[in-house]
Amino acid sequence: MSPEELSEARSRVATAQAITILTGAGISADSGVPTFRGADGLWRNYRAEDLATPEAFQRDPRLVWEWYNWRRELIATKRPNPAHHAVAALEARLPDFWLITQNVDGLHRAAGSHKLSEIHGNIWMVRCTACGTVAENHQIPLPLLPSCDRCRGLLRPHIVWFGESLDQEDLARCAKALQDCDVLIVIGTSGVVYPAAGFASVAKEAGAFVIEVNPDPTPQSDLVDIALRGHAKDLVPNLLETGE
Ligand code: OAD
Repeated sequence: MSPEELSEARSRVATAQAITILTGAGISADSGVPTFRGADGLWRNYRAEDLATPEAFQRDPRLVWEWYNWRRELIATKRPNPAHHAVAALEARLPDFWLITQNVDGLHRAAGSHKLSEIHGNIWMVRCTACGTVAENHQIPLPLLPSCDRCRGLLRPHIVWFGESLDQEDLARCAKALQDCDVLIVIGTSGVVYPAAGFASVAKEAGAFVIEVNPDPTPQSDLVDIALRGHAKDLVPNLLETGE
């Protein structure tokens, strides 16, 4: 990444009328939340793909809840970092803005983001597998077989697992944000989980200028216009706070 690239990226952001941001676990890595595919991404040697599935929950709901209890406990101690705050500040000053996050940790909301789609759900929400009631829940730890206040059915995390469909209304909102933006900024995602992995190319084909922020190359790096290599907490404020 040359100084010219950072400067061009900053000027694209400063002059854009509409900006969409896509984030992944990398933006929260700087708050101390482990990424899924990084060195600290395993829990007891399980990968996310082994536990974040309806089949895993059916087979062993206790194990899946144990994993989520561990993640809820860990995330509860974490705070938004300067990258989350810079994203929220951009929303406050740019009317045509949308944030798409794959993160379930709630740190964007904690930083003050409102115009966002949490496409994989939120770790602080639970859903009853019997009656479908969705509720906010911050209890730590939850019992390993938590039950619904209404019908006593088994609760599950209100998270979109592998093999499950994303909310269609949410997806339509994201599609519009990808079509309409002048600039898409992709921050801290490995770009291997669909549909989010396809969002950069959707925006690019619709004419957006695409900027990636990630310390490492990803499968999308070849199609983006500028790849900024480094940590979100350093680069994102620099990229977005163009008035200073
Ligand atoms: P991954 O763990 O796959 O990727 C994290 C990305 O962040 C990698 O490309 C890292 O290089 C990058 N990264 C690490 N530290 C960073 C930093 N300080 N600043 C910027 N980038 C950094 O996470 P996701 O791409 O978010 O789904 O994973 C996608 C989905 O797979 C997740 O939403 C989750 C997972 O299974 C569900 O839980 C349903």
